Amino acid sequence: MGARGFLAGWAGAPAVTDLRGYYQDPAEYDLAHGAFPDLEFWAEACRRYQPRAVLELAVGTGRVAIPLARQGVAQGFTVTGIDITRAMLARAEEKLVQEPAEVQQNLTLAEGDMRCFSLGQRFDLVFIAFNSILHLVALGDRMGAFGSARDHLTPGGRFIVDVFTPSMLLLAQAQEPVSRLELDFYVEDASLGERLVRSSARRYDETTQTIRSRLFTERYRKGRRGEKRASDAEYHIYFPEELRLLLQSCGFRIEDVFGDHQWGPFQQGCPRMVFVAQAA
Ligand SMILES: C[S@@+](CC[C@H](N)C(=O)[O-])C[C@H]1O[C@@H](n2cnc3c(N)ncnc32)[C@H](O)[C@@H]1O
Repeated sequence: MGARGFLAGWAGAPAVTDLRGYYQDPAEYDLAHGAFPDLEFWAEACRRYQPRAVLELAVGTGRVAIPLARQGVAQGFTVTGIDITRAMLARAEEKLVQEPAEVQQNLTLAEGDMRCFSLGQRFDLVFIAFNSILHLVALGDRMGAFGSARDHLTPGGRFIVDVFTPSMLLLAQAQEPVSRLELDFYVEDASLGERLVRSSARRYDETTQTIRSRLFTERYRKGRRGEKRASDAEYHIYFPEELRLLLQSCGFRIEDVFGDHQWGPFQQGCPRMVFVAQAA
């Protein structure tokens, strides 16, 4: 879309391990992603698997965990969430204090790194929602996170990961000699009079299955451009058989794979890879 050219030769840029730039504005994150349509999927997962204790890894602003904590009050399960970004957790806390006391008591938020954590408690359902596993850029990160998740499961408990199915078209575009600047999203919150526009340019490194993105965010308040910000992000792209093998090599048995948030089959053309696994 539109402008081209400025990222030629960027493939050698250093790895992005500091996410504070990317997640520096959690209110903006909620504006951009608050309406992602996966909440009913996670609500149904808790009805279907009947957990007593739920753990969300990379809980962020509590977009999923807070509605689950409400559901847990009625259904009888507790929710715990960990995240590495303090600002995202602070936003989750701010939202949580707006909730009734019993919901507040039902959600525990903690700073933690999903690549290596020890909470001293086991859970019947551990999950990573909304592509957060993309942040596990090194093989050791992925094995650490999946291994820690397995070590926190009760016997018979489930681990669910949800990530998009890779698009060969997008990966091919991210390998063109000169990077394009693509529009990622445009969101509007009419009640706040805010608009957010995000564009990005990406390079795909097929040797590591890593996408490096430079993201440009423009925020408009009441029609006037307020801020324009650039940040960097790095993602690991997962292929289905890789995810299957990763889970198996981390001690899981795969119970089911779904292809969307409606529990549809994992089949050609489906948008998501939702793996449901149990400790082997
Ligand atoms: C796409 S957001 C998802 C947030 C939330 N789960 C949701 O669905 O809205 C990704 C989150 O992963 C967190 N994150 C990235 N690497 C992490 C790590 N190693 N351990 C814990 N959280 C991490 C980021 O701070 C961010 O909050």
